[in-house]
Amino acid sequence: MTEKDRHVVLEIKDIAVDYKTDHGTVHAVRGVTYKVHADEMLAIVGESGCGKSQSSYATMGLIQAPGEVVRGEILFHEDESSAPFNLLSVDKNSPEMRSIRGGKLSMIFQEPMTALSPVHKIGKQIDEALKIHTDLDKAGRFKRACEMLTLVGIPDAEKRYHQYSFEFSGGMRQRIMIAIALCCNPKLLIADEPTTGLDVTIQAQILDLIQDLKKKFNMGVIFITHDLAVVAQNADRVAVMYLGRIVEEADKVTLFDEPQHPYTQALLRSVIGSPLASDGKLKTIEGSVPGPYDVVEGCAFHPRCEHCMHGLCDKKMPDFEQVNDKTKAACHLFTEEGKHHKESQA
Ligand SMILES: Nc1ncnc2c1ncn2[C@@H]1O[C@H](COP(=O)(O)OP(=O)(O)OP(=O)(O)O)[C@@H](O)[C@H]1O
Ligand SMILES: [Mg+2]
Repeated sequence: MTEKDRHVVLEIKDIAVDYKTDHGTVHAVRGVTYKVHADEMLAIVGESGCGKSQSSYATMGLIQAPGEVVRGEILFHEDESSAPFNLLSVDKNSPEMRSIRGGKLSMIFQEPMTALSPVHKIGKQIDEALKIHTDLDKAGRFKRACEMLTLVGIPDAEKRYHQYSFEFSGGMRQRIMIAIALCCNPKLLIADEPTTGLDVTIQAQILDLIQDLKKKFNMGVIFITHDLAVVAQNADRVAVMYLGRIVEEADKVTLFDEPQHPYTQALLRSVIGSPLASDGKLKTIEGSVPGPYDVVEGCAFHPRCEHCMHGLCDKKMPDFEQVNDKTKAACHLFTEEGKHHKESQA
């Protein structure tokens, strides 16, 4: 099947999220564009604060004031035959959005401890999701909840159904979150650092489970992580974010073997065992990410970039575009302007 024929579940076009605060405006997301296909895992990687979670909250309709999605389109294609639905065309608290969020569009949050209610039995929490998003009767919902708990590896599901979240270990709570996120067979799952802080064995089990369910339900998955080893093992495609934008996107093998953007190259060099870290040492990227209120003109990475072309990279933001047949990137090393600039300086 060609790329063109594959069912696109979610298409995000130039999304931007601002927070207007007393100290100024934080541009949390500055124009993010990507697609996720059915039965595909798109990994989103990038340093802390670059907008990975905020861009996902925008998709879920969960940006809270003073935050606001200030531009862009979020197109949800439920199935191949239905017309795409722009999630930003309806109020985030509207019945349409409520019927999609948590059902067809589901998210595992970065903070599982705060996402589960401490005062309701965990079975009840799964039941609530099933009540809103399915036509199952009470007995059907109980059966489905127990099936999901079993599926995520919680033994004695019928007994555990009646327990509270504090009666479970961290790893089990994470699995319960996954059970809630998956109980209504979502078309798209956003998993925001779903395995951070869990021990390696449980991490592997949870990743296997997401992979299984992706195939079984033909689900699209957005997987947000800092862990490039996890990306290497699990993702189909990778988008690299830097300061509110995607700077590079390619299939996994291409991204690891032929990284194009200087930030992606630096990120890969920072990982032990990467072929780019030829001396085997952990490299750090020089400089730091600008603060939330800093205004950086031009390409946001230029102050840290060894290829920075003064007079261009510090003045004009490069477009995010196809730089060869496999990779999209936002970097003046590949723009016509960048090539002219280089020639004129030579
Ligand atoms: N309530 C808020 N008010 C102001 N700025 C905010 C608010 N919430 C988030 N931001 C800003 O949005 C930006 C992106 O944050 P986000 O949580 O999406 O980063 P992230 O890439 O998910 O980081 P991490 O890897 O640490 O989870 C940050 O600069 C942050 O300061
Ligand atoms: Mg985050």
